[in-house]
Amino acid sequence: MKILITGAGGMLGSDLAEAFRSNFVTVGVVRRPVDYLSIPFCVRDLTRRQETLEIMSRESPQIIFHSAAMTDVDGCEVHRHNALQNNLEATKNVVEAANQIGSLTVFFSTDYVFDGKKPGEYDEADEGHPLNVYGETKWLAENYIRQKAKRFIIFRTSWLYGLRGKSFPKTILELSSSQKTLSVVTDQKGRPTYTRDIGKAFVDLLGKDPASLEKVENETFHLAGSSAVTWADFARGILRLAKHEDVEVQNVTSDFFKRPAQRPENSVLSVKKVFQKLNLKLRGWEEAIPNFIEELKGKGVYVP
Ligand SMILES: NC(=O)c1ccc[n+]([C@@H]2O[C@H](COP(=O)([O-])OP(=O)(O)OC[C@H]3O[C@@H](n4cnc5c(N)ncnc54)[C@H](OP(=O)(O)O)[C@@H]3O)[C@@H](O)[C@H]2O)c1
Repeated sequence: MKILITGAGGMLGSDLAEAFRSNFVTVGVVRRPVDYLSIPFCVRDLTRRQETLEIMSRESPQIIFHSAAMTDVDGCEVHRHNALQNNLEATKNVVEAANQIGSLTVFFSTDYVFDGKKPGEYDEADEGHPLNVYGETKWLAENYIRQKAKRFIIFRTSWLYGLRGKSFPKTILELSSSQKTLSVVTDQKGRPTYTRDIGKAFVDLLGKDPASLEKVENETFHLAGSSAVTWADFARGILRLAKHEDVEVQNVTSDFFKRPAQRPENSVLSVKKVFQKLNLKLRGWEEAIPNFIEELKGKGVYVP
């Protein structure tokens, strides 16, 4: 089976690449060259339709894991045009290419398609109502896919952390080396998800049954870590697991940090369907963070 990963240089994409490379023929598409990928890759901007059609047709993968996106939530808010280009227009090009060559598009979407006002967990049938431009562009891309893609699966995930790029756990670990008190918001709740666990889940799934994804085509799933938590409690947990209990976390509300984009209060995704239909269950952060810290150290990243 041949797999193509868009955004292969990114946090999720690079972990998908690492997970897939020894089990499948795997190629990546990146926007700029990187020196850490162990799969063959080519440099393309997916907002360029012709380039996208050409590379997809040349590679002709069975599955396209489309993880490329503009993920800087505040950046999207102030650069709406760029957000639409990279999150919607690029996705249109990927879908057109996938339709031409008959590939299955696996699209990664976000908990930020929801407004966070629901008292309980969001399930797949809940209507999106994004609060910010990032969520809006991902919701538009989801709907485009549902209407136009011949073969697709949408996986919404949330609060990603991984070895590459910026993430909340990395920031907390970095700050803990210089600050004794951290102010962290307590009015946003979600499911932290380790990108390595997503890669492993897909390898296990396709390893057991290469047709497993085909069997659930044209559906939407929530794929996220098992434990839901507020950012403030997540920060406390990270510090405890990293043995930095000397650093105190102070609860603040979102209005303490003035940021361009509004975030949902409750974006806890229900992960029941993905377990029932695909038998996928990702670890909670309590279990995954110790591995994450070890893997950071193993890669030579300084962990205080
Ligand atoms: N991060 C989260 O907490 C989170 C939560 C829920 C869902 N998701 C979704 O999960 C996916 C992966 O997220 P991530 O955090 O791993 O993202 P990431 O680290 O920002 O990586 C995304 C990659 O996509 C590339 N890219 C963006 N626009 C492109 C274009 N026009 N052509 C080619 N490449 C392009 C970026 O390249 P550059 O480096 O050049 O920008 C970057 O390497 C995304 O679809 C995101 O929406 C993320």
